[in-house]
Amino acid sequence: MLDTLIQKWQQHFGPSYPEVIIRSPGRVNIIGEHTDYNQGFVLPGATSQSQYVMVGKSSDHHWIASDLGEEIQGETPLPSWAKYIHGAITSYAPDIGSLHILIGGDLPIGAGMSSSSALVCGVLLALKELTKRKETGEQLAAIASQVEREVIGVQGGIMDQYAILLSKKDHVMLLDCRTKEYQHFKVDLAGGRWMLINTKVQHNLIDTNYNQRSNECRQAVDLIRKKFPSVESLRDVTPGMLEEMQLPQTLSNRARFVIEENNRVPEMQKAIETHDPQAAGQLLNASHEGLRKLYEVSCPELDHLADFANKYNGVYGARMMGGGFGGCVLCLIKEEAIRDFEEGCADSYQNEFGFSPDFIHFELSKGALLVDQD
Ligand code: GLA
Repeated sequence: MLDTLIQKWQQHFGPSYPEVIIRSPGRVNIIGEHTDYNQGFVLPGATSQSQYVMVGKSSDHHWIASDLGEEIQGETPLPSWAKYIHGAITSYAPDIGSLHILIGGDLPIGAGMSSSSALVCGVLLALKELTKRKETGEQLAAIASQVEREVIGVQGGIMDQYAILLSKKDHVMLLDCRTKEYQHFKVDLAGGRWMLINTKVQHNLIDTNYNQRSNECRQAVDLIRKKFPSVESLRDVTPGMLEEMQLPQTLSNRARFVIEENNRVPEMQKAIETHDPQAAGQLLNASHEGLRKLYEVSCPELDHLADFANKYNGVYGARMMGGGFGGCVLCLIKEEAIRDFEEGCADSYQNEFGFSPDFIHFELSKGALLVDQD
């Protein structure tokens, strides 16, 4: 993969090597969905599938997105991938001058594995290397999340950037999105394997509905504070408090999901620490139910895959992952069941929707890093 990208670099920019190469992984989230912007807990990790970002200073301005077959030179209207790069440069190193940049890799784009965050984090890390500055991963994560909020206007949390920049190989990260404290946990689920099933759809609802959910959570908090003034976010609300409040039905459903999902995070941590795939699977199923019925961010393709998986003997549990309305289902499955499961699942999805899903196998990997070119 890397060799091919270096060859492409040399075809475009001549025989020299890039000054800096960064491998920036995708992110998976085991549990804790839509809890990050409610100051709650999340349990993400980084994937072996990555975006590579190659950068060199130059006298002309030439950026290439090798997977998309697109490039830009000079001051043209920016395609969306270039807006992320531009956003990272203007926030972090506006005076750096012209750059040659080539991006590419094996991280699926638009699959809900945070390819855009991987790009922004990768570019920031590359700029940090070029300028020899000394920010920590935590500081870069804060800048990356600011860039994304500005470029796409989504009021996202900080889960993706922390996972992409600060993950550890074979581990997931328990992140407290209020204090920003985190701990890594080794994952070994006694023969249980994580895999992703990509619906290959991305409904356009994602950005608008994401912001709408985050506003609904804020509205719920505003109402709850009238009775419980110490509440700062849904993180501070107990099921008992919610019951006392009698909120309008939609706000009540949203809040209930966030409170329950937040409580599932330490339970999943326990399931992982006690190597208990059954318990982990039940938590995944409960999370999917909540995302579908209370938080209403699922879609027919995600529900079909999660239902198929959850009925399948050999699957411990499955749930939609990420913002929703498309992207991937995360599935915990017995290693020996994977092949048959994939066949059955592909047939059933094909019958329903007329095309097959992608099955994505990943290792939990280290966060973004400088690739050693020696
Ligand atoms: C998107 C956002 C994250 C998080 C998830 C939902 O991936 O980028 O910050 O809110 O949705 O858990």
